[in-house]
Amino acid sequence: MNPVADKPELAEPHIGGWLASLGLGVEYTRSAGNSLYYRDAEGAEVEVLDLVGGYGSTILGHNNPDIVDYAKSLLDGGTPVHAQFSKHPYANDLAWKLNTILHREFGVTEHYSAVFANSGAEANEVAIKHAEMDRVLKIGAALAAVEANLDAVAATGAAIGATAPLPAAAGGIDELVAAVRAANAERAATPPVYLAPEGSFHGKLAASVQLTHNPGYRTPFSAMAAQARFVPLERTDVIAKTIEAERKTLLDLAVDGGVVHVVERPIPAVSAFILEPIQGEAGIRVLDRDAVARLRDLLDAEDIPVIVDEVQSGMGRSGAFFASSHLGVRGDYITLAKSLGGGIAKAAITLIRASRYRDDFELVHSSTYAKDSFSTQIAIRVVELLEADGGEAYRLATRQGEKLLAALRSLRDEFSDVVKEVRGKGLMAGLEFHDLTGSGSEVISEQAAGGLIGYLFSGYLLREHNLRVFPTASATNTLRFEPSIHITDEEIARTATGLRALIEVVRAEDGKTLLG
Ligand code: F0G
Repeated sequence: MNPVADKPELAEPHIGGWLASLGLGVEYTRSAGNSLYYRDAEGAEVEVLDLVGGYGSTILGHNNPDIVDYAKSLLDGGTPVHAQFSKHPYANDLAWKLNTILHREFGVTEHYSAVFANSGAEANEVAIKHAEMDRVLKIGAALAAVEANLDAVAATGAAIGATAPLPAAAGGIDELVAAVRAANAERAATPPVYLAPEGSFHGKLAASVQLTHNPGYRTPFSAMAAQARFVPLERTDVIAKTIEAERKTLLDLAVDGGVVHVVERPIPAVSAFILEPIQGEAGIRVLDRDAVARLRDLLDAEDIPVIVDEVQSGMGRSGAFFASSHLGVRGDYITLAKSLGGGIAKAAITLIRASRYRDDFELVHSSTYAKDSFSTQIAIRVVELLEADGGEAYRLATRQGEKLLAALRSLRDEFSDVVKEVRGKGLMAGLEFHDLTGSGSEVISEQAAGGLIGYLFSGYLLREHNLRVFPTASATNTLRFEPSIHITDEEIARTATGLRALIEVVRAEDGKTLLG
């Protein structure tokens, strides 16, 4: 489709070849609104309707004119892009704007501090690190309390009673105190555990990838950071048991009836529970409100914080700024990225509720690029555009999202032998195909078995219908749709037409047409 460069590929060379083999190796030369453009072999510009939407980063469309003009004015005005460790009033402005929305959508007044980052994965790493710092500081405080108590107990001169789980201390109280200290040093150093629903996707950095369920992404790096336990969200009993199995304690001494014995004091073992209100990579799955409420009650009773990852679902896509507001679950941490940068800048933020916030965290997490004047001010403008006209953007997301979902559902009703399910909320929709490993077409069955069928469909839709659609990364028989709020009724109809043709090809087991 595009002129082939005369130099061998060095920029992530493998993926380029793979995309080309599926007909997806297109070089887009321009983008505007809901469209991307490439030039065909004759040099003519070809328009493609983008339903991938920058993987969820272009809620306002590509090169949104307001954002572009504002970006130009910032640069023309000589905005001090990189001035780390100076006063950033605009960062505070953004934090306040986000707090105002949060207070409105959740009906609370508690403030959230904002820590700035560069990507969705980094925003989650901020939350993961902060939760761990909080846990470590709590364990440190518990250790200090035990330490003070040990000396006091030793000074009583009381006889030694039961020492379990430690062995009997034949050498007396000093030996027992030493054994308690040694055991505590080990217990306090136990690595943390994170909990996440099955199917979670939270990024690909060293800590966040451990919370990303897909083993293909996660397992090569499992030795690098704290591990997650993936739990079935609806099974509160299983989650409770998982928490039970992780319980950790410190040992302490107590004097009871004039006798010293060993007691156990609980310390936090689970750093945090992380969830996406609408799971993206797992195949666009809206979490169940009741299950989330039960989960929140359980976690509150255990004092385990919740990290709500709104990297993909947030910024208005669900019909509210925070998709979690539909579920009634307010995170102790809330992460935002993707559309926060308006499709122009790279911006990410972690909101941390005041009651859990540790000031010292600011000294241990920072980045050369985060909180820069350009991306932060762009993010402010994005939030202003979403909030304009009393939240017209959210109403648009709801309205157009319902139309898109209705179009997909009518395809499911008509082709229920091919389409398994349609899921989503607002402008985050997924269409899942039935298992196609038994298709009479070798091409279809092989690609389905190899987990690549959604990419084959994407190649077909691009080539034959000028539609840009991709599968969800960890459930490749689900196509995802995350267009901008400006998607028109005609564009929705165009999407349905292309999908109908695809479904008919799949039903006819016509692998040749899919391959092109
Ligand atoms: N959290 C969620 C829920 C995501 O969907 C993603 C990325 C991230 C975190 C990581 O953000 O890429 O800025 O570091 N999802 C991409 C996707 C990969 O396919 O939608 P990042």
